[in-house]
Amino acid sequence: MEVLVFENKESGSLYAAQVIANKVLMNNSVNEETVLGLATGSTPTDMYKALIEINKSGVSFSRIITYNLDEYYPMKKSSPHSYHYYMYDHFFQHVDIHEENIFIPNGENKNEDLSKFCEEYELSIRRNGGIDIQVLGLGLNGHIGFNEPGFSMDSLTQKVTLSDTTRTAAVKYFGKKEEVPFQAISMGISTILSADHIMMMAWGNEKAEIVKESIEGQLSKDVPGTYLQTHKNVTIILDAESASKLDNDRISLIESKLS
Ligand code: PGA
Repeated sequence: MEVLVFENKESGSLYAAQVIANKVLMNNSVNEETVLGLATGSTPTDMYKALIEINKSGVSFSRIITYNLDEYYPMKKSSPHSYHYYMYDHFFQHVDIHEENIFIPNGENKNEDLSKFCEEYELSIRRNGGIDIQVLGLGLNGHIGFNEPGFSMDSLTQKVTLSDTTRTAAVKYFGKKEEVPFQAISMGISTILSADHIMMMAWGNEKAEIVKESIEGQLSKDVPGTYLQTHKNVTIILDAESASKLDNDRISLIESKLS
């Protein structure tokens, strides 16, 4: 596991965007698609800003295929609370990605169609050759995607029930807790761990404890972030605050690499 600590969210996000851009450039040069697993929430916002600039500067995203980690359920795509809305607002509408290459779990599915939808989501990822780079945030309770504490390592894309911690954290977006959905559709842990390369980002003091538990703690279903320890190619991208509780011997300091 590679743990990189940056001065702040902006420089860490720029690094993450550059890793993605390098992969896209390499694949573009041999006319191949780049398959990205994408995250929402407050963590990747600056990464999307940096990717938009990279796209404007001439790196084409016309051959990227994207799979989002999750979506609330039930949720209308047009709702400003949906992750569909978030992705178009923060990223897709600003770049040259093709509409048909965008995959996001559909919160408008009827309940009885969900398991078929989830199966198809998994198959679609596989048909496109698997995810090259999976971007992740880390929940305050250690969830990755919406895989909450207690989820097993072999879970696939499915409908999930959100924990109280997760619903409380979402109040800042929904205004009232009663408005936060109780369920979501999420890629599974196994889906996430199938990616070739995982980049997990976390910022700020409030993530310091769960970052430490995820990276240095015992592998445990109580902290899904610890499952990342089992993957052979993980980059953890932190700012000074989120890294503040880590054992210093384990981290590379790249404070001014990008300036
Ligand atoms: P955040 O959420 O980016 O809004 O902090 C991270 C997560 O819940 O995975």
